[in-house]
Amino acid sequence: MNGVTIQVDREPRASRVLGIGGYRPSRSVTNAEIVDRIDSSDEWIRTRSGIESRRWANDEETVVAMSLAAARKALADAGVQPEQVDCVIVSTVTHLFQTPSAAAEIAHKLGTNRAAAFDVSAACAGFCYGLSLASDMVRAGTARHVVVIGVERLSDLTDKTDRSTAFLFADGAGAAVVGPAADLGEAGIGPVVWGSDGEHLDLIRQKEDWRDALFGEAGPSMPHLVMEGNPVFRWASYEMAKVAQEALTAAGVTVEDLDVFVPHQANMRITDAMSRQLKLPERVAVARDIATQGNTSAASIPLAIERMLETGEAQSGDLALIIGFGAGLVYAGQVIRIP
Ligand code: UT7
Repeated sequence: MNGVTIQVDREPRASRVLGIGGYRPSRSVTNAEIVDRIDSSDEWIRTRSGIESRRWANDEETVVAMSLAAARKALADAGVQPEQVDCVIVSTVTHLFQTPSAAAEIAHKLGTNRAAAFDVSAACAGFCYGLSLASDMVRAGTARHVVVIGVERLSDLTDKTDRSTAFLFADGAGAAVVGPAADLGEAGIGPVVWGSDGEHLDLIRQKEDWRDALFGEAGPSMPHLVMEGNPVFRWASYEMAKVAQEALTAAGVTVEDLDVFVPHQANMRITDAMSRQLKLPERVAVARDIATQGNTSAASIPLAIERMLETGEAQSGDLALIIGFGAGLVYAGQVIRIP
């Protein structure tokens, strides 16, 4: 060892969310439109999931197109120019190109100055995973401004005759811009509490890989997502409240300090069960975007935040608890300040 030290940046920094933006596909699909194919009813879907309608993308509303629209809104909200962006992180499981990443295309089309870019596969926890990475980059000095996008076109990978998924999954994009906070006291993103429960790998998964889908005995077809809904429902309803509580503790706050609760929009009953277990005070606003948006996996949390800001349920500066959970099974939660 020659005694030379590698120089690292040691300045302690804090990060915060500077802006939020979303994109909702133009087509709203009611329960009435899908019930016949899955032998269901509007009433069953509403009472079991809270969904009244969902958004499905058209041909032009691609993963990249929806992401660009959401990211541009988030940048405008943050007052950050594309050329100030150092990194683009895209969380998705429905970008149908194995390579190059959606993030590289988005970084280019946004007009960033050769920003670092990569995709993350963490299903419905994807936005919280991306936010955690972005926050750590800003805190470490690796990047000053990071665009985090959660985007899905789940309608592409959903079997429209599968009664356990066809009414649930939907499309959309949500984005956040993460940047430095003025000082440590102004930190706007708390420590992430995250993990994976790989023993439940089979509960939500793509049924066939691309090789099987293309060359299997049934002939060429799109691969599809399958889900054992009820075990996932029970796991999410009971285990995720514990993770949410840990995220509060890690940030040094309690439910009494919260203004807003934004869980992944998986099922209204999961949201209610988590709210009960957390003993949220009544004045805490709870995201219920799933009612007219469906379950958009990685996009659901930023979309729900954007909606709450639009309706006035959330205000800039509010303290929010966010938590994502899904296929893997994986999860991540943190406390943030609403930009
Ligand atoms: O986003 C990633 C994470 N995903 C989630 O968190 C989703 C978690 N799971 C869920 O949201 C719920 O499990 C579902 C909404 C998917 C299903 O609700 P559930 O209360 O767990 O229903 P279930 O699967 O236990 O089925 C209850 C009954 C069954 O009938 P019997 O056996 O009681 O006679 C099903 O056959 O409902 C029947 N059923 C349906 N009926 C009408 C199942 N799917 C349908 C349907 N329409 N689409």
